[in-house]
Amino acid sequence: MEVKTSLLDNMIGVGDMVLLEPLSEDSFLENLRNRFDHNEIYTYIGSVVISVNPYRSLPIYTPDKVEEYRNRNFYELSPHIYALADEAYRSLRDQDKDQCILITGESGAGKTEASKLVMSYVAAVCGKGQEVNKVKEQLLQSNPVLEAFGNAKTVRNDNSSRFGKYMDIEFDFKGDPLGGVISNYLLEKSRVVKQPRGERNFHIFYQLLSGASDDTLKKLKLERDFSKYNYLSLDSAAVNGLDDAASFRTVRNAMQIVGFMEDEMQSVLQLVAAVLKLGNIEFKPESRCNGTDESRIKDKNDLKEMCELLGIEQSVLERAFSYRTVEAKLEKVSTTLNVAQAYYARDALAKNLYTRLFSWLVTRINESIKAQANARHKVMGVLDIYGFEIFEDNSFEQFIINYCNEKLQQIFIELTLREEQEEYVREGIEWTNIEYFNNAIICDLIENNQNGILAMLDEECLRPGTVTDETFLDKLNTICAEHQHFESRLSKNSKFLNDHSLPHSCFRIQHYAGKVLYRTEGFVDKNNDLLYRDLSQAMYKATHSLIKQLFPEGNPAKVNLKRPPTAGFQFKASVGTLMRNLQTKNPNYIRCIKPNDKKASHIFTESLVRHQVRYLGLMENVRVRRAGYAFRQPYEPCLERYKMLCKRTWPHWRGPAREGVETLMVDLQVPTDEFSYGRSKIFIRNPRTLFFLEERRRQCLEDLATLIQKIYRGWKRRTEFLQLKKSQIVVAAWYRRFAQQKKYVKIKSATTMVQSYTRGWQARKLLRELKYQKRCKEAVTTIAAYWHGTQARMELRRLKQEARNKHAVTVIWAYWQGTKARRELRRLKEEARRKHAVAVIWAYWQGLKVRREYRKFFRANAGKKIYEFTIQRIMQKYFLGLKHNMPPMSPIDKNWPARPYRFLDGVHKELQRIFHLWRCKKYRSRFTEEKKAVYEEKLEASEIFKDKKALYSSSVSQPFKGDYLEISKNPKYQKLSSAVEEKVLLADVVNKINRANGKGTARIFLLTKKNVVLADQKTGQVKASVPLLDLASVSVSTLSDGFFALRLKQGSASAIKGDFLLSSEHLIEIITKLHRTGATAADQDQLNIDISDEFLVQFKQDKVCVKFMRGAARNGNSVSCKRKNNRLLEVWVPTTA
Ligand SMILES: Nc1ncnc2c1ncn2[C@@H]1O[C@H](COP(=O)(O)OP(=O)(O)OP(=O)(O)O)[C@@H](O)[C@H]1O
Ligand SMILES: [Mg+2]
Repeated sequence: MEVKTSLLDNMIGVGDMVLLEPLSEDSFLENLRNRFDHNEIYTYIGSVVISVNPYRSLPIYTPDKVEEYRNRNFYELSPHIYALADEAYRSLRDQDKDQCILITGESGAGKTEASKLVMSYVAAVCGKGQEVNKVKEQLLQSNPVLEAFGNAKTVRNDNSSRFGKYMDIEFDFKGDPLGGVISNYLLEKSRVVKQPRGERNFHIFYQLLSGASDDTLKKLKLERDFSKYNYLSLDSAAVNGLDDAASFRTVRNAMQIVGFMEDEMQSVLQLVAAVLKLGNIEFKPESRCNGTDESRIKDKNDLKEMCELLGIEQSVLERAFSYRTVEAKLEKVSTTLNVAQAYYARDALAKNLYTRLFSWLVTRINESIKAQANARHKVMGVLDIYGFEIFEDNSFEQFIINYCNEKLQQIFIELTLREEQEEYVREGIEWTNIEYFNNAIICDLIENNQNGILAMLDEECLRPGTVTDETFLDKLNTICAEHQHFESRLSKNSKFLNDHSLPHSCFRIQHYAGKVLYRTEGFVDKNNDLLYRDLSQAMYKATHSLIKQLFPEGNPAKVNLKRPPTAGFQFKASVGTLMRNLQTKNPNYIRCIKPNDKKASHIFTESLVRHQVRYLGLMENVRVRRAGYAFRQPYEPCLERYKMLCKRTWPHWRGPAREGVETLMVDLQVPTDEFSYGRSKIFIRNPRTLFFLEERRRQCLEDLATLIQKIYRGWKRRTEFLQLKKSQIVVAAWYRRFAQQKKYVKIKSATTMVQSYTRGWQARKLLRELKYQKRCKEAVTTIAAYWHGTQARMELRRLKQEARNKHAVTVIWAYWQGTKARRELRRLKEEARRKHAVAVIWAYWQGLKVRREYRKFFRANAGKKIYEFTIQRIMQKYFLGLKHNMPPMSPIDKNWPARPYRFLDGVHKELQRIFHLWRCKKYRSRFTEEKKAVYEEKLEASEIFKDKKALYSSSVSQPFKGDYLEISKNPKYQKLSSAVEEKVLLADVVNKINRANGKGTARIFLLTKKNVVLADQKTGQVKASVPLLDLASVSVSTLSDGFFALRLKQGSASAIKGDFLLSSEHLIEIITKLHRTGATAADQDQLNIDISDEFLVQFKQDKVCVKFMRGAARNGNSVSCKRKNNRLLEVWVPTTA
């Protein structure tokens, strides 16, 4: 089990001054001494840590100690700076409150050490990781760099901070450091050129000369010997316990870690070397003829080397040390500098160079350590500002430093003493006011805008006319004379007139920490902080990039005639900003106390400590703390924080927060004198009560954690169980479904089986029934059919009988009607005959009557004449009618009007014939000779073939073309036509029938007046030429074929080759033309045309009978010729052809 500790355990003296009994200044000091003697350097006043400088290293900053104090309650362990750092860090991390650690105390009290301890503790406890460690390392390593350039040995402190430093460390929401920002305040630059007795210049000069390698020194044109440099005081060059050489290595290493480039480090060292070189430049007076004193540089070697280091033209700098140019509006006046002015210019340049280098270093470090992330940061500010100091000779710098300390004391008073007391009053807590010294009056003396010392100084600096430190003091003497904290020999306040400890050129201020005598010498100059423009312009001309950067006002293009703000004004403004910044944060105080003036361990100079205890207001602090309450908190967060300690307030308190807190306190049985209820806050008197609450809360949190764990585990198990249950149900459901499905299938099949059996049995039963019913129905139908048949037959018979009867009736009726009709016909005929006879008789009788009546008027032959006349009349009518109805003139028209009277029959026909002949004659008379020949040919053809050959009728409508081959025009037959010579009457392609097989060979058939020529169809070569005279006859069939045989006269020359059996489509034309041509040959018998279906053809020796037969179409519609035997060629002519 963990052992709970308390700061009360093994306590030496009293760990918290609040618990000191009895409380007096002596007991307070005794307690401090007692603890100091026992190496307990830290003591609390409530939450304020008092730290007494041990001047030796104590084993209380080990990593084990860090672990010991980590996450522990403030009052749990013996007082330590780590407890404060831990408290601040945790409330920053857990409660999201920005923190500031205010470390105060006089020079050498251990502020810088304390700030480093706080930073190293926070670095040790905050998050880890590569990136975080790098940030931490950079933040920590910024200290050695700044200390080397900004710290120096003073009579009070071997490592005295000569600048103010405020560092904001930025953290993310997890409490991991992200980066930081350093602000620096007024470096004591006068130290660069002059150090008081027993003090040193800034560490870096000594470190560089001691620690740099020979090579580096050579490059920087430096020598290791300190005594070679005017700016380095000799009497305290070596400091006990300080290893400058080792420190130089540390600084270089730190610069590397922080992120300085090698060339940047080189530039920085060059500037440091340049300052040393600058100090060695000396001037000698030189009188000019006009009586003015000028200065000349004694030995230009250092100037040359410095110029080489910075890349400045020597002559430019030399001139800048000899002349001063004053520019006012459009005027420019150059004056020579005397030796004192030259030294002043040199020192001003050195101081400026160094301060600007220092500010550049801070900016450069800030660049490296600045937080990268843009997220909201939590900030912990650590303020380590130069401590209150009183030297023998205090100048402007001390005035400024002490002013800053006054402000810090002010803020301490504001936040601890006044604010606390005011809060009690505000909250209505019973309170007896505790008196304390409020230093606001001193702050006002210094910073008041109208009549504050700084305002006076500024006024003097800006005033036209002669301004000196004396005029400034005069002004102070007039304005501040009445101020109770201002003292001066010459002030109107006569009480200091005889105070010889107060020289004429000084004034004294009664600071909160004691009286300080300030020598006014240099106040105006230092406040003006002027650097001759010639010097800044000379620096700007340097080729060294860093130095150029440090003197931007030297840029001739940007000449600014406006005065820069004074040093005092700047400092006041930056201190104002710092104070406002600190007020926004939660303050944590470390009040450092210096135990002795000898920087020695184990010495506790009571008077010195008493003085510090007094001016730091520590006794008042304890009193306020003791009279008041150690802890306060608004009701809401208090209830929120501790509500789990009481069942009634946990987990929700419905009423007002105050009542909740009251319930809580009653429930926890906290003694009523341990706390008070304010208007909005609860005030807890003793830290232990708070500790008790915290402890209970921690236990409760553990219980709650256990409860949460329990519930979570329960929930987790339950969730798992529910999930298992759910899945089990799912599995079961699926299984049941599966089983039921199987069972169902089984039952279903069984049911189906039973059902099918039942249905089968039922069906069969039904079938039997249906069959029986069907049979019954069939039987009924049959019976009905038979019955209907019987009935039908009976009906049929009846109907037939009826029909027969009807028919008989009809027949009888018809017979009877016939008889009636015949009788009627006979009667009608008889009647008609009788009527006709009556008519004839009537006519005869009428004729007779007429003749009898008119006989007497007519001669004996009148009858004949009437008759003739009637006949004439009829004829006239007939002819006229014929004339009007004459048929058309076409010879082929067959129309002829009908005859009106039978007796005209003969005349009528004769007239028709005559008309036709006349019409034909008319038609013929219109013929041309050619047409006549054609018709003659056609007539001849008709005579030859009409009614003799079946082919004839189809030829009637075909005109006889004659030359079907256009032999004379066709170039193919040119040779043939020239061979024939005579006029071709007919040219056609015919088939020459081969006797051997009855097949035809195409030949050109030409008919001239004298010859028949057969020629090859393709070549046009004449195969045979038969004179017409040699032709005996032509044989053709009676059928519709185109076969014809040219039979040659026996004994003629042509007969040797035998007859020709040919076939042509134009048979009628060929034969007609042949017949006509043959007939026109004068001495020629007419060519015989033999038309018969069987004729003989003489093929060479043999005679072959060609027999034409009518038959069904075989080879389509064409005529086929086949050889039957040697003597017979059968020609089948289709009947349709
Ligand atoms: N906690 C400590 N343990 C050991 N030595 C300490 C401690 N605090 C301070 N010192 C010693 O005291 C010296 C002076 O301390 P420090 O530099 O912190 O003083 P300071 O208050 O910053 O003074 P200044 O105002 O002049 O800067 C240190 O150099 C160191 O030797
Ligand atoms: Mg310091």
